[in-house]
Amino acid sequence: MDTPSGKTVLSGIQPSGSLHLGNYLGALKQWVELQESNTVYYCIVDLHAITVPYEPTEYQSRVLDATAGLLAVGIDPERSTLFAQSQVPAHTELNWLLSTTTPLGELERMTQFKDKQAKQREKSSLGLFAYPVLQAADILLYQAHAVPVGEDQVQHIELARDIAKRFNNRYAKIFTLPEAYVPKGAARIKSLTDPTKKMSKSDESEKSYIALMDEPEVIRKKIMSAVTETEPVFSFTDSGPAVQNLLQIFAAVSGETHEAIEKQFAGSAYKTFKEALADVVIAQLTPIRERYQELRADENKLKEVLATGREQAAAIANPTLAAAKEAMGFLV
Ligand code: TYM
Repeated sequence: MDTPSGKTVLSGIQPSGSLHLGNYLGALKQWVELQESNTVYYCIVDLHAITVPYEPTEYQSRVLDATAGLLAVGIDPERSTLFAQSQVPAHTELNWLLSTTTPLGELERMTQFKDKQAKQREKSSLGLFAYPVLQAADILLYQAHAVPVGEDQVQHIELARDIAKRFNNRYAKIFTLPEAYVPKGAARIKSLTDPTKKMSKSDESEKSYIALMDEPEVIRKKIMSAVTETEPVFSFTDSGPAVQNLLQIFAAVSGETHEAIEKQFAGSAYKTFKEALADVVIAQLTPIRERYQELRADENKLKEVLATGREQAAAIANPTLAAAKEAMGFLV
């Protein structure tokens, strides 16, 4: 879809592990841009992140880490409603209502569920299976038109749209039909150690992803040791997947065109290209890391931001939930 303007936008991120360059280029950069001319809701999806094993004693810290991270990348609480999902109970209530009209077969098709289930077969829970229904509730409560996400989430947004359509047909036209807003080029940043996988914070190898808060020398080391194909070819279409991924990162971070980048590195050695890539990534992430350190030190401030966000979010979510319940025949 074209860049939304004058629309309602919602997106979410799990507070598990560190924010990484895939999150940033695939989603968070767009979150920041969309604040300019849309009504935006950004949600730290702490209820989603407990569908895989997690540590309760550290969980509040993880949510505050994510809050500070989002502020550090440029989410402005004056222009965005930034909140924690678990603090707005309408999400879980709508989740239940929507789950009663979602066919099992649609959930069984979800690739994220299949991947996560394959990794932890005996332990996978009903919550993991129902995950996309809660995600639909997140989106539909705010009547979002646009959902800025990376490519891996498109299937979930399409399911949310189907859930909304089904509800609107069966009960009453309550929900806006959402659409995914996916960036061109950076929608699927790959692992630096295995370009067949996406860059992910749950990867066992820390070398596979660049965390937004990595120190410059760590970033440089990870980029210098990123896998490449044998022959240095710098082409967005003809290089192998490992080099194409690095080129995509270069383009998304530097904002330069593909042609300019291909020309700049034609005939270069990998080392030269990787040094230049490390330079642009470090230049972009250093101010974010510095702001993060400052923001993370003031927990009261972070909790205040979430308290304000929670009120603003509830003021929109509660009336939508009430309308949905009424349409379904409940006393409200
Ligand atoms: P999560 O927390 O895994 O990721 C947050 C965002 O980052 C994007 N992303 C990537 N983009 C490009 N390349 C990558 N390697 C990469 N890795 C992650 C994701 O696409 C996402 O946009 N289910 C969602 C969270 C969620 C949500 C929502 C999103 C819950 N409710 C409502 C939108 C609307 C998730 O697990 O994101």
